[in-house]
Amino acid sequence: MIYRTARWLLEHMDPVRANRIMIDNLEWFTTLGLHHQCSRMPDEDPLTVMGLRFPNAVGLAAGLDRSGEEVCSFGAFGLGFVEAGTITPQPQRFSQAHPYRRDDASRSILHAAEFENAGAQAALARLRSADAFYLRGGVTGISIGAGSGTAPEGAAAEIASLIETFFHRADYFSLNLLSCSLSEPAEIFRRPEILSSILRTAVGRRDDLACRPEHAHLARRPIVVKLPGFLADDELKRSADICAAAGVDGISAGGPLLKSEAGRKPVFVSGAPARERSTAVVSLIAGHLKGALALIASGGILSTNDVVEKIDAGADLVQILSGFIFNGPGFVADCVDAAREARASRTAPAAA
Ligand SMILES: Cc1cc2nc3c(=O)[nH]c(=O)nc-3n(C[C@H](O)[C@H](O)[C@H](O)COP(=O)(O)O)c2cc1C
Repeated sequence: MIYRTARWLLEHMDPVRANRIMIDNLEWFTTLGLHHQCSRMPDEDPLTVMGLRFPNAVGLAAGLDRSGEEVCSFGAFGLGFVEAGTITPQPQRFSQAHPYRRDDASRSILHAAEFENAGAQAALARLRSADAFYLRGGVTGISIGAGSGTAPEGAAAEIASLIETFFHRADYFSLNLLSCSLSEPAEIFRRPEILSSILRTAVGRRDDLACRPEHAHLARRPIVVKLPGFLADDELKRSADICAAAGVDGISAGGPLLKSEAGRKPVFVSGAPARERSTAVVSLIAGHLKGALALIASGGILSTNDVVEKIDAGADLVQILSGFIFNGPGFVADCVDAAREARASRTAPAAA
């Protein structure tokens, strides 16, 4: 009853406000065990990807918990991993009054290409929320990106510094290369020398930090690069090659579509409309890299069939965001079960 009323209210208010209210109330909600009214804990389905042990293959995509405030509470719904962020060096605010729009008819969320978050120092403190999740075996990814006022040429230094800041907090890093000041969203991916320099700098800083004596007890920190589905196929393949050559560990493929209208800032489109392209991108990169890097898929997972589709296309792990919002937290366990079955049939020996 409490859950159904809260959900109805959240669905009918401005999405930014709804997100804030959800984050502010999640801790007491899960601490009192009320999440058991709307979700179930799935059986474990452990797997090792990028050298990390994940309790299951289903994660929360970056964007719901931008400043890492409620990692453990989100994890209580049965997620194997939670990606906090995108976190930038300094705090950022939205420049527009209504940066998100939810469209129930098309099961989509339109969101501005802006990354509001509390900034690195505040997020570092808030990410203590990940400690209890870690103790339960959950994996915390941290999505990081350069600030909205930073030119692509300055992104490498900021990303390297964020890796240092969050080195002891992140189980893995996801690099968001859309957050800095860009002439158009795909700019960095169309400038191979800049892309390569950012990735090599990030990997180099990660490796330097790993060698420090105070980090000797820490597990390896894999780096994943988010490759957006709105790139052309040849740009995706070239970017994937640059990722592999730079020594990153994985690619987060798909994500939202990009909608451009004359005279308006482009917006991202997540949810059902993103599904088809995202699956095609996963399949393209899987075929191109042939297992050289891990693949995390996000984009349009709104049903359990969509989970199977992504795994069949070559994803090692999947992430949900719009599906969590439209279907509610109970969707997590259904996705975990679907992923378990899809992974089992992928690895089962072919019938004679
Ligand atoms: C409201 C909203 C905010 C998002 N913010 C981020 C973000 O901060 N960083 C990022 O890398 N992706 C962000 N994304 C993209 C998601 O991580 C994901 O790739 C995308 O939503 C596609 O998955 P979905 O169709 O299941 O929602 C955001 C998506 C939404 C809907």
